[in-house]
Amino acid sequence: MATQRKHSSVRSRPGNRPGESVRVLISRARVRQRVRQMARQIRRDFPRDTLHLIGVLKGSVLFLADLARELGGEVSFDFLSVSSYGKGTNSTGEVKLIKDLDVSIEGRTVLVVEDILDTGLTLKYLLRLFEERQPKHLRVVVLLDKSERRIADVRADYTGFTIPNEFVVGYGLDFDERYRNLADVCILQFAQPSKK
Ligand code: IMP
Repeated sequence: MATQRKHSSVRSRPGNRPGESVRVLISRARVRQRVRQMARQIRRDFPRDTLHLIGVLKGSVLFLADLARELGGEVSFDFLSVSSYGKGTNSTGEVKLIKDLDVSIEGRTVLVVEDILDTGLTLKYLLRLFEERQPKHLRVVVLLDKSERRIADVRADYTGFTIPNEFVVGYGLDFDERYRNLADVCILQFAQPSKK
């Protein structure tokens, strides 16, 4: 798994609102290369299975779409949506299911596809939910892992990049529903309010 250096040498560029700027942390070329490697590894582990990809809306959509195209063999998709509350310093860790899966996962080889693993509370909730539904195999694929922030005792089976504790956007990840369409994974920075 690749680990990102704390400071990228790439310069910041303006974001899409005043006071916001973005700096490339992981370029689109590196993402593409790593997704290809991860897909090869997953296929080696499950050469003949139909891989049932479960995307967690909405951040995982671009990653899932690229991963699916690299996997080869039989692949099916499903999506679910969750919301988390109290993610600040007084985190309650409460996760709520907003949209459930469309089809049963019983007996299937399931890959939960997440954009980023942060506290791990969302993943912990999902794994508990899915384990009860008796899949044949249950594995977790994450593009990014902010391992420093972990609260829940969970880990991914396949990780793209371990990144520092910075707020990142792009390649599906958002800030206030914006920046999902950036092709690179970028650090979002905010201008300090000027002191008078
Ligand atoms: P966790 O439950 O704290 O692991 O949260 C995972 C979710 O938080 C991700 O699926 C994202 O939606 C969101 N998230 C955490 N860190 C970031 C970030 O740096 N940028 C954008 N979204 C993030």
